[in-house]
Amino acid sequence: MNPSSKQKILILGASSGIGHEVARRFIEMGWSVGVAARREAPLAALKALAPERVEYAQVDVLAEDAPTRLQRLAESLGGIDIYFHCSGIGSQNRQLELSIEENTVRTNAVGFIRVMNWAYHYFEQRGGGHIAAISSIAGTKGLGPAPSYSATKAFQNCYIEALEQLARQQNLHIRFTDIRPGFVETALLGDSPNYPMMMSAAKVARSIVKALVGSDDVKVIDWRYRILVPLWRLLPRWIWKRMRL
Ligand SMILES: NC(=O)c1ccc[n+]([C@@H]2O[C@H](COP(=O)([O-])OP(=O)(O)OC[C@H]3O[C@@H](n4cnc5c(N)ncnc54)[C@H](OP(=O)(O)O)[C@@H]3O)[C@@H](O)[C@H]2O)c1
Repeated sequence: MNPSSKQKILILGASSGIGHEVARRFIEMGWSVGVAARREAPLAALKALAPERVEYAQVDVLAEDAPTRLQRLAESLGGIDIYFHCSGIGSQNRQLELSIEENTVRTNAVGFIRVMNWAYHYFEQRGGGHIAAISSIAGTKGLGPAPSYSATKAFQNCYIEALEQLARQQNLHIRFTDIRPGFVETALLGDSPNYPMMMSAAKVARSIVKALVGSDDVKVIDWRYRILVPLWRLLPRWIWKRMRL
């Protein structure tokens, strides 16, 4: 598919943070945009920017009807070319509170595959398309302060890679983009100012839009993290486990 011919995108997790910024940009670029999340008010505000080109739906990845709702939303746009998955949760959990660990896995792993499964079959039936998701650089290594968050992000990296291979084996014309930002100033990080190399959601959204209309299959944001991440990967386990994060 010619990237410039893609004009319809569905974004799940568009009610705040990175997803909201990306949605705003695509609306400004004249695309037809479907936006979804649990909170409706911010979605309605996006629709108000271009009521004739924006549709929204309330979707919870934890609910079994999420695929049905996404299908309806895609149909209300007359079909989509890109599905962009921005929904997710994450928090530090040094106390290893079980409810936080379980909820993170439910949203970032079980909810994630529920919706990726819908997107895969949607584009299979449509004869091709583009699936993109924000995972994170947090999936590079297990992070002591955020065990389930880092583990679910590694899961997402691996799952996208697996679907990419499966689609090729099945001769499906589905393209995948795994977006891996470093720290971004959004509600997900809470009020803590203590994160290094923090980026604004607007800056990250600009890079994401470029990656989605371009041909990236993995996009680490930004250049500083593109240097850092391979170095982290090289660190031997005996050093990593001694690091104080
Ligand atoms: N902020 C960072 O430093 C950073 C870095 C790397 C990667 N990321 C990833 O970027 C993605 C977006 O996060 P963000 O930083 O933009 O945080 P955010 O502002 O908290 O946005 C999270 C989005 O996910 C949606 N969401 C959460 N649970 C959901 C559910 N059960 N069903 C449907 N939607 C749900 C939220 O909408 P509702 O609450 O309205 O449902 C919201 O739109 C996440 O996957 C996050 O892991 C963030």
